[in-house]
Amino acid sequence: MILITGGAGYIGSHCALGFLNQGENIIIFDNLENGHIETINSLKQAGKVEFIKGDLRNIQDIEEVFKKYEIDTVIHFAGYIQVEESVKNPSKYYRNNILGSLNLFDTMVKYNVKKIVFSSTCAIYGEPEYTPLDEKHPKNPVNPYGRTKLMIEQILEDYDRAYGLKSIRLRYFNVAGADSQTRIGEWHEPETHLIPNILKSVFEKDKTFKIFGTNYDTFDGTCIRDYVNVEDMAIAHVKAYNYLKQNNKSDYFNIGTSSGSSVKEVFDTAKSVTGKEIKVETLDRREGDAAILIANSEKAKNKLGWISNKTLEDSIKTAYLWEKSRH
Ligand code: UFG
Repeated sequence: MILITGGAGYIGSHCALGFLNQGENIIIFDNLENGHIETINSLKQAGKVEFIKGDLRNIQDIEEVFKKYEIDTVIHFAGYIQVEESVKNPSKYYRNNILGSLNLFDTMVKYNVKKIVFSSTCAIYGEPEYTPLDEKHPKNPVNPYGRTKLMIEQILEDYDRAYGLKSIRLRYFNVAGADSQTRIGEWHEPETHLIPNILKSVFEKDKTFKIFGTNYDTFDGTCIRDYVNVEDMAIAHVKAYNYLKQNNKSDYFNIGTSSGSSVKEVFDTAKSVTGKEIKVETLDRREGDAAILIANSEKAKNKLGWISNKTLEDSIKTAYLWEKSRH
């Protein structure tokens, strides 16, 4: 069976659907601090899902799972993800992301489970020295969140050398969109991400969408990001899992579309997809935002056979339908 940590969260739950689509049986382990029981209930309608509520910071919680089930591979999403919060409260990030991952990896080694797909991030590269970013780009994360992800990647390398734990690390760029059947979608509280924030301004009367910074060194002054669709992301995880099974070799890949969109372009696309006027104001830069982050995903294409299929418009459409269903 496949164990998915953090499977009640945004990316974890869409990847869980990807594995269910492949006919796999899955176990989801989540403390429901940021994940949602409603998401688990929707997944249960889509296939065979066991849900265990537990926290990776308590090694007994995770050990129970390995005792009870025959686990073959772990897909590890559980962790805190907010860059700004990680700067203000690094302890929270190191304790959860690092200690939680160590508890998981040690339990895997103890129970002889030697395959893991890990949810990493382009934030491990830090301020780009060149774009698009390939996997060889220097790794100098500029916030504790990015540092936790880089440290976990390094721990995985050491655990491979010492214990034979094989890992695929997927370095995500900006994940966007929702399940195309609107069963699940992006649901963060508080919401900090661009696309859901734009769409919330459509439905919530007192909400004005805020653009953080219009004086970046880009063609229209706003930040450029590489928005990769969450269902394409799920396929990347299934391919990484299959690759690991076939090759039993550790590796790492950037997962992005290899093209960028500015905040203004995303806003304009959202206006045309929704057909609505959206209230907008411009504010100063948000701390810690790089001007441009675009992936070079050639390695994922060549070795995993993965390419992104869906466009930014596709992602905004499904995100809009999801947001609509919640209001
Ligand atoms: N933005 C706005 N207004 C908003 C929200 C975001 O203008 O209300 C801008 C940001 O300033 C940024 C862009 O939209 O320029 C994208 O911001 P997001 O918060 O959606 O995404 P980030 O690029 O900051 O973060 C994402 C993931 C992180 C990951 C990071 C790597 O959410 O987990 O990419 O760069 F670490």
